[in-house]
Amino acid sequence: MAEGGGSPAPGNVAFHDLHPAVGDSRSEALAGLRAAQKRVDPKHFYDARGSRLFEAITRLPEYYPTRTETAILRREARAIAGSCGTRAVLIEPGSGNCEKVQLLLDALRPAAYVPVDISAAFLREAAQALGDAFPWLPVRAICADFNAAPELDDYLPPGRRLVFYPGSTIGNLEPAAARGFLRRLAGWLGEDGGALVGVDLHKDPAVLERAYNDSAGVTAAFNLNVLNSLNRLLDADFDSAAFSHRAFYDARRQRIEMHLVSEREQAVSCNGEAIHFAAGETLHTENSYKYTVEGFAGLAAEAGLAVREHWVDPRQLFSVHYLECA
Ligand code: SAH
Ligand code: AVI
Repeated sequence: MAEGGGSPAPGNVAFHDLHPAVGDSRSEALAGLRAAQKRVDPKHFYDARGSRLFEAITRLPEYYPTRTETAILRREARAIAGSCGTRAVLIEPGSGNCEKVQLLLDALRPAAYVPVDISAAFLREAAQALGDAFPWLPVRAICADFNAAPELDDYLPPGRRLVFYPGSTIGNLEPAAARGFLRRLAGWLGEDGGALVGVDLHKDPAVLERAYNDSAGVTAAFNLNVLNSLNRLLDADFDSAAFSHRAFYDARRQRIEMHLVSEREQAVSCNGEAIHFAAGETLHTENSYKYTVEGFAGLAAEAGLAVREHWVDPRQLFSVHYLECA
């Protein structure tokens, strides 16, 4: 995450690096590896390689969320702008390749676009490409951890705020954390702002499991790549050949779980400490919660947000919600 930050890029694009705290990440990652069920925060997927692998996932035939949400945004752009209003400062936490927002720019005509992502180099590239493609749009990219309550105010141009949070990235948070995130988001919005949130829906578990176990093995590579991030963060010696990908739907918790399974008994050195894995023991790498339209509205209500409008695709695979402070 050692990007030089602060200086505006030429033209309409500026990049600010708030240097998401590596020290905190290190102690938090070690605590996760010492736990009875070993776990790692999914933010560690997204180094430069992980961001590219996620982009490849979005193009897979089995991974329906991106294509489905894209179709909703394309079809409903005018109606969405009718609800969300135009000329707002458009903030996207977890902006990735900044692809989806392009479907809304003509309709929303934002005063500025503020992509926020933890993946510094990928963000810089995506923001510059977007700024080049839309020269009329001021782009103010911010590298930050959106769960660490970053002080965005200093970097946001004045104006009404609209948060765009697509991709069901909210599903990667535990419900309590998702509620906390929505509360923080409500704080960013103020009284007159709004938020457009993409949420993946309950469906046939076979469809879900295929989406996270693609035949080309891209999701497996994405999952295993977290070990490279841990090796750098913790000066560790994880051998990705000694782990395998596992993803399954937990119907009771209504979530896809991703794990890395230790192929054999082994000890991994992390920051000088030996972390032991039994054969078959797993490192829990991600949850991806699925909601109903009503369930998500209930979660938002607990965070002080009301769903004013929502859109779903004809097969009811995915939903997009427009929220305002209740
Ligand atoms: N919005 C895009 C990308 C979703 S992938 C889409 O809908 O396709 C999730 C994105 O969130 C990635 O780009 C990842 O780098 C970013 N991300 C994950 N955890 C984050 C965190 N804690 N803080 C900031 N960005 C994060
Ligand atoms: C970013 N996030 C919403 C993706 C998801 O579907 O949970 C990440 C992902 N993990 C495996 N495939 C995609």
